[in-house]
Amino acid sequence: MIEEILPPGVRSAEAFDDLAPAPLFPEEAALMAGRRARRQRQFATARACARRSLAELGVAPAPLLPGPGGAPLWPEGVVGSITHCDGYRAAVVARSARTAALGIDAEPALPLPRGVLGLVASDTERAALERLAGARPDVCWDRLMFSAKEAVYKAWFPATRRWLGFADAEVEFGPGGTFTARLHPADPPPGACTGFTGRWLVRGDLLMTVVSREASPEPVSR
Ligand SMILES: CC(C)(COP(=O)(O)OP(=O)(O)OC[C@H]1O[C@@H](n2cnc3c(N)ncnc32)[C@H](O)[C@@H]1OP(=O)(O)O)[C@@H](O)C(=O)NCCC(=O)NCCS
Repeated sequence: MIEEILPPGVRSAEAFDDLAPAPLFPEEAALMAGRRARRQRQFATARACARRSLAELGVAPAPLLPGPGGAPLWPEGVVGSITHCDGYRAAVVARSARTAALGIDAEPALPLPRGVLGLVASDTERAALERLAGARPDVCWDRLMFSAKEAVYKAWFPATRRWLGFADAEVEFGPGGTFTARLHPADPPPGACTGFTGRWLVRGDLLMTVVSREASPEPVSR
């Protein structure tokens, strides 16, 4: 399902249950020791998805451990992202030579709990969501906004190792399942990517978002 909204060069794998978990590397298993059974299953299935998508890039299985801030440490030359929610797990990966940043998020296609949208979206964003809801009342636009911003964070953090608040990104949904995110953090590191393009999909009781940024082409040497 998620492959429908991925940019070129990105590989993915997804699962709708925990029936095919990855055998964990000892370092990964150590991380999960003592964790709740649900978290262990979620982690192992998402690792299975990550290894399948890495295999499509020709990358051999290796431990996928969390780095600073919880972001997975992908093999050299690879960017990627993982998500899990009830009934869904997915991983996406790409060569960093082609894709500079990548983030995904999946959520239940349900309205956010009362009061949460005010923490996630600006007045301008909320007004835009109301207009969109007029045209597409079947879409949970508040949850989609939340998901888009979570995906943005997952693309932003590995490259910058900086926190990004919900107010630091302005998401604008376009027609046909697209969106843009413009970032205005207080103190962006030099060269940080402050603009992403994204796509979204609602299918059954799930919604999902993907954001990415293409890598700049190598300068041509004369
Ligand atoms: C980190 C965060 C985005 C995870 O999202 P979530 O909806 O709770 O959970 P998901 O299942 O979709 O994603 C979890 C996966 O995200 C990845 N992840 C965790 N922290 C991450 C980070 N700092 N950067 C990138 N990826 C991260 C991990 O792979 C994790 O799965 P794993 O622990 O099994 O490896 C969320 O918990 C968070 O902290 N959000 C606040 C920051 C934010 O979203 N700001 C908005 C900026 S516009």
